Amino acid sequence: MAKPVLALEGVTKRYRIGTPAEVEVLHATNLSLASGEFSALIGPSGSGKSTLLNLIGLLDRPSGGTIQLAGQQTGRLTEAALTRLRGESLGFVFQFHHLINAFSVAENVCLPLMARDRRLTRSALTRAEALLDAVGLPGFGGRWPSELSGGQQQRVAVARALVVEPMLVLADEPTGNLDTGSADEIFALMRRFNREHGTAFLIVTHSTELARRCDRHIHILDGQVSG
Ligand SMILES: Nc1ncnc2c1ncn2[C@@H]1O[C@H](COP(=O)(O)OP(=O)(O)O)[C@@H](O)[C@H]1O
Ligand SMILES: [Mg+2]
Repeated sequence: MAKPVLALEGVTKRYRIGTPAEVEVLHATNLSLASGEFSALIGPSGSGKSTLLNLIGLLDRPSGGTIQLAGQQTGRLTEAALTRLRGESLGFVFQFHHLINAFSVAENVCLPLMARDRRLTRSALTRAEALLDAVGLPGFGGRWPSELSGGQQQRVAVARALVVEPMLVLADEPTGNLDTGSADEIFALMRRFNREHGTAFLIVTHSTELARRCDRHIHILDGQVSG
């Protein structure tokens, strides 16, 4: 089996809902994602999908257990080290594109690189233009996000997620806000990147139609992960 990009062992998450009450929304979870795997995460609303993605994305820390990402145990890392590892290894796509309207489309694609390098470089902009070509938006770099359709904006968000050449892209309902045609295009785009670059994807989706096109189905119900 290919080397895992991610390994969760006994990961739990509890939220404080008042003092001292706590509720466990993710129960002892073991999950491993192999390099280049294209997986769907499927579960009803409130089952813990976003909680799991936030932990994997190093945006939140688990209440128990260990998370290994890109060969590194993350538990003892400082916030700065977590930020660096996140920036180097992960790409994020959310349900809403979160593009910044004051920045051009190309600058939006460059944001993860700007966060890393603390400046906008010529090579970053060149890379953004190449990615915009790849997501079917050639020559769109100089436009404003507000000039684009919802589907086009989400394609820009996918380009932004890919700009650091992440080993794993986490996509939380990336097509939840799109019409069927645009959803299909976004999905096809991610699948193509997966095949061409070996990028692993973990995609939360409610669509059985889209999930069918994934290599692996990971199910979650009431904070219990299987598959
Ligand atoms: N910050 C939080 N504080 C307390 N409870 C939370 C918090 N975030 C999520 N939850 C609860 O955890 C459970 C799982 O939520 P979530 O991971 O968002 O589910 P999903 O993404 O599958 O809809 C839900 O019951 C939700 O209400
Ligand atoms: Mg969610």
